[in-house]
Amino acid sequence: MIGFSYSETTSPLLLSVPWLYISLKSIKIYPGYRRYEIMKHIAVIGNRAVTSPDFSLNDLPGSAGRIDILCRCVNSAFLLSHGIRKDVILYLILRGAGDPPKIITLDGRYLKHLNPDERSTGALLKIALKKGLGLKDGEMQRSTPGITVRRGDLRDLIKDGNFDPVIYLHEASGDIRKMREAIKEWLEKTPLFVLGDHIGVSREDEEFLDELDAIRVSLGPRSLHADHCITILLNEIDRIELDYA
Ligand SMILES: C[S@@+](CC[C@H](N)C(=O)[O-])C[C@H]1O[C@@H](n2cnc3c(N)ncnc32)[C@H](O)[C@@H]1O
Repeated sequence: MIGFSYSETTSPLLLSVPWLYISLKSIKIYPGYRRYEIMKHIAVIGNRAVTSPDFSLNDLPGSAGRIDILCRCVNSAFLLSHGIRKDVILYLILRGAGDPPKIITLDGRYLKHLNPDERSTGALLKIALKKGLGLKDGEMQRSTPGITVRRGDLRDLIKDGNFDPVIYLHEASGDIRKMREAIKEWLEKTPLFVLGDHIGVSREDEEFLDELDAIRVSLGPRSLHADHCITILLNEIDRIELDYA
């Protein structure tokens, strides 16, 4: 994980060749540059999140099966103070009324039109659900940039995704801060982090995750909101990837 900030390494030789100086200056190489190569995959289970686009943007918590929670997860997964995390792919698994189950995938490399307010994120999900109406098993439909929708559930996602390892975020488990070396290894592969919404992860899902030998990881001693879990998880990964002790 070696990288450098250009300004710290500018040599007099380079300064004497202005075109080379300018072109090198435009290349941004950060400490921990690998973060832009390694995608972090996160799946949130929306146990009751609606799968029909007929919900009101004015009542995301009420009429839409707590789709507001998923909207906040989207914002936590991608929004930095001044930019978007391009190394995250978020899978929203929606199982609520309408046309279940659906997976809405948001890919940070291509996402556009993402704003910090829940309402506008809700509008993006609404468009995706509209595009996804009537999809058959295995069919996928593009929505707005960086967003696709398919029919499927957690099992389909994991079956098709080739993830390794699968990590189940679970309160009463091993502390993420004691897993630094393991996390470095996982990041060399294709890790998928799975978490629940306000209802949590059902017994059935837990059994499925156990069958897969999913690794359980705790983010701290208290039960947290799903969106906060994503913020903390990505912060822990930032610390490892950017060598921030
Ligand atoms: C709001 S919590 C679920 C609460 C739900 N009432 C329950 O008892 O499972 C949402 C999800 O975030 C994850 N989570 C919450 N706190 C966590 C923690 N301290 N460590 C790891 N994951 C956590 C779990 O996956 C959980 O299903």
